[in-house]
Amino acid sequence: MPDSVLVHSPATLSNLGCGFDVLGLALGAPYDAIRLRRSQVPGVRIQHLDPYNLPTDPSRNVAGIALLALLQAVPEETGFDVEIAKGIMPGSGVGSSAASAVGVVVGANALLGGRFSKMELVEFAMAGEAMASGARHADNIAPAMFGGFTVVRALEPRLDIMALTAPPLWVAVVHPQIEIKTSEARKVLPATVPLGVAVRQWANVAGLVSGFLTADYELIGRSLDDYIVEPVRQALIPGLAEARARALAAGAIGGGISGSGPSIFMLNKTAQTAQAVGEAMGSVFADLGIAYNIYVGPVATEGARVVLES
Ligand code: HSE
Repeated sequence: MPDSVLVHSPATLSNLGCGFDVLGLALGAPYDAIRLRRSQVPGVRIQHLDPYNLPTDPSRNVAGIALLALLQAVPEETGFDVEIAKGIMPGSGVGSSAASAVGVVVGANALLGGRFSKMELVEFAMAGEAMASGARHADNIAPAMFGGFTVVRALEPRLDIMALTAPPLWVAVVHPQIEIKTSEARKVLPATVPLGVAVRQWANVAGLVSGFLTADYELIGRSLDDYIVEPVRQALIPGLAEARARALAAGAIGGGISGSGPSIFMLNKTAQTAQAVGEAMGSVFADLGIAYNIYVGPVATEGARVVLES
């Protein structure tokens, strides 16, 4: 068994428009790079090799909490030293906390000879994610773990996650540099939904899953719309409507808020279109005087994986 592993853990889109807390998609870029070593010193030590000033106290760090949850299940194991180089900016809305939580448990599992299933590892990673967002959900964790397109059908009474394949797609993400905490973005959500609205929403979820499974890009495009969450969260993201309009004019299939924002994602058939769509969305924030980053890449077919062991 290796003593040290290097893991790459991908950014992810959650919700995918209509699928709040249920649908997810893994991205080829960006990703977190995480090195884990077994240690004879009890507990977990975390070092961050990035500029984000995240807490290194394991009980206040999503990766630390996930790893402590895993350690509880293997009392004979002593501890881990962890170095995290975050390629995914925290708070960007593309699954930064999920990537770290999944990356460390995938790495620890490799150091332990692969004793846990991916579904068991999801449980450990969710402990970290729950601390970050204030709620138990796995729609970023699932694609970070399994890759591709994922459906979280249930968390209780047991995890029920479907890892499905996505058709070839290129994703453009614009990340305007405004802060939205997931915990705050969840407070604005409605407690109840009128039946007619719910019917339109679950019709779209069914259409979107069908579109992914049959590679029907037009069906994907007309099924992404979110009638429940985006209408109340759009006020948190200036420029959202204009970014969508310019993206569609540049050839995007469709998109919406990435997770709880502030990033906006658009799905595209080709790399060239995705690049043009990313720039079109970026131009909206340039006009508004808001700094932004653009990420363009394919859907990742694999989730977090060990890239080096020694
Ligand atoms: N499904 C979650 C939300 C994703 O939209 O609040 C963000 O963590």
